[in-house]
Amino acid sequence: MKEWTREERYRILKDPEEIRELHERIKESPYRQTFHVQPVTGLLNDPNGFLHYNGVWHLFYQWCPWGAVHGLKYWYHVESKDLVTWKNIGTAIRPDTEYDNKGAYSGSALVTNDGLYLYYTGNHRDENWNRTPFTCIAKLDDNGTVDKAKYPLFGPQNGYTEHQRDPKIIFRRNVRKYNIIIGGQNEQHKGRCLVYESDRPDSGWYFKGELKVPGYEDFGDMWECPSIEQIDGKDVLIFCPQHITLPDRGEAKNHNGYIIGSMDWGMLTFTPDGSFHELDFGFDSYAAECAARLHQWDEGVLIAWMGLPDSSYPTDEEDWSGCLTLPRRLRVRNRRLIQTPLEELVALRDGEADPAEGILPGACEMELFNEEERLDLSLFSDSAGDGGIRISYDPTSKKIIVDRSGLSRKINTDMGNVRTRPLEHGLNHLRIFIDHSSVEIFVNDGDAVFSSRVFPAEEEHCFTCRTNARIHIWNLKPAVKDDFVV
Ligand code: FRU
Repeated sequence: MKEWTREERYRILKDPEEIRELHERIKESPYRQTFHVQPVTGLLNDPNGFLHYNGVWHLFYQWCPWGAVHGLKYWYHVESKDLVTWKNIGTAIRPDTEYDNKGAYSGSALVTNDGLYLYYTGNHRDENWNRTPFTCIAKLDDNGTVDKAKYPLFGPQNGYTEHQRDPKIIFRRNVRKYNIIIGGQNEQHKGRCLVYESDRPDSGWYFKGELKVPGYEDFGDMWECPSIEQIDGKDVLIFCPQHITLPDRGEAKNHNGYIIGSMDWGMLTFTPDGSFHELDFGFDSYAAECAARLHQWDEGVLIAWMGLPDSSYPTDEEDWSGCLTLPRRLRVRNRRLIQTPLEELVALRDGEADPAEGILPGACEMELFNEEERLDLSLFSDSAGDGGIRISYDPTSKKIIVDRSGLSRKINTDMGNVRTRPLEHGLNHLRIFIDHSSVEIFVNDGDAVFSSRVFPAEEEHCFTCRTNARIHIWNLKPAVKDDFVV
């Protein structure tokens, strides 16, 4: 694997022409996606600033132009009218001030009477590589240009380490207060959330205190990308606890999950009603961001990075890495978050394939109605039906099991090859979205979702179902333009 020097990783992009050739080269990769947002070049990680404004969905991603490396981060902008087809708009936030000299890190966005504000972490480092995180604000005007405020809204808080980042802006309409919550780490190296407040979106911010989450005082050493959402009348704390192992998650140490509960802004306490659940049971999902669904402010749309920190992927060698998940509709049912594919995705269906042939077209959707209690399905198997990803349901243990050990290109095996999830009421239905290097499995109308990157070899393009099920397969049209816009 390529070794990057600090100079190479933190090089400033001066002219788009510097990466045009790289874009042309990676476009030829068999693993380029056709209906998922992916980096124009280099590395994509977290989705940022996801919202709907003036008839358009705006979305940004953490972007390092040079290759599959976490170096100097920009915000790259994409837009959609329907959450299904996306186009590249170009670089939005550049790390070009003293406050963000080593990266414009993750954050969120808010529409106000004054326009659209972007909140992000300015990752400042001095010449000795000591880090100071700043919470910064910028305005996105109607023709897509970003105007940064001259000074940050605030700097780091005493009593916490250098790990303070990922501002999530929340406007509490009923009291007309603005809050920012920040992911952090205290001096005892425990993950925490810090809460700031103001009467205005762009000034007057002060530190209100640390968020109390009873029972979660010792739950990972850093909480990244926290947010508090209101879904179906419930408060939901979504965050990424790091460096902790959890049941059924193999050796994975970084997670993205949620707790349903109630938020008391006066007492700064989030009281859980139930435990921490993973948002996604697959192998690759992190840093999810939620936007309010249009005209249904109580419902959310969730999108995540289909990737993980501290991991590597076969396209690293091609100098690109990462993509986003499909956006999902978010609701609460039985004290769980339910994620379902957006209705709009049906528009991508482009002719049905004959399931009897057992072939997976490059980009497709599979819908499966289970006709037995058990299920035994392999995706990406070879023409003899061997290998691939095995999806099974065992009525005795009442668990769905996703096992990727049969794939020929193994990735991040130190995090385990098997993921499971209990399904008390059996397995009835699956909707599976397959792109050129990913698979997203939606179970029982949103009970669980498994999102994973997969890099099939040429012969791994078949599927086999060894139990009785009714299966449909649709070809899917491309929906994400791979244009060179920087
Ligand atoms: C999560 C994260 C954030 C940070 C960003 C930097 O993946 O580490 O905490 O803001 O990525 O790209």
